[in-house]
Amino acid sequence: MKLSPATPADLAELAEFEREVFVREVYPPFFFRQAHDLWPDWLLIARSEDERLIGYALGAPVAPPGEAWVLSAATHPDYRGQGVGGALLTALLASFRAAGIHTAWLTVHPLNPALRLYQRHGFCRVSEHADYFVRGEPRWRMRLDLAA
Ligand SMILES: CC(C)(COP(=O)(O)OP(=O)(O)OC[C@H]1O[C@@H](n2cnc3c(N)ncnc32)[C@H](O)[C@@H]1OP(=O)(O)O)[C@@H](O)C(=O)NCCC(=O)NCCS
Repeated sequence: MKLSPATPADLAELAEFEREVFVREVYPPFFFRQAHDLWPDWLLIARSEDERLIGYALGAPVAPPGEAWVLSAATHPDYRGQGVGGALLTALLASFRAAGIHTAWLTVHPLNPALRLYQRHGFCRVSEHADYFVRGEPRWRMRLDLAA
């Protein structure tokens, strides 16, 4: 597996990947272009040895300086449970630290298996929101102290 920041040449494939993984609630292709323009170091992709795009992670800064958000993390279903998501998250958090970020945030559905991944990386629940994005979709807001 190879991790790298996405380049403009990766973005169409990334948008396809997004539709394949998330199906309904997807970022549109133009968002990936904007994300790349705004946060080029924090749009990371993973490719298999045969160059297949198998995962990505995206971070963004938060208004208070020194804080950032993990907006998305995804691994292709065929490659889950092999450390791709963990490697992407580790790389994104390292990139946050390199940029002077001291606090990372994210939200996750409490029944999403991703929760375990985030807890393993040290994220702790701060609050629970019953209808976070849409009605009936709860989310935990989680925080990680990167300075610790
Ligand atoms: C969350 C996600 C990114 C994790 O990616 P991954 O590459 O499977 O991550 P890892 O292999 O590093 O770790 C996954 C954990 O689940 C376990 N696991 C085993 N088989 C698995 C499988 N088939 N699918 C998912 N997780 C599996 C791993 O052993 C690991 O457990 P651990 O944390 O106790 O070590 C991936 O499941 C995914 O893309 N989910 C759908 C998109 C999503 O919901 N993203 C999060 C939005 S908040």
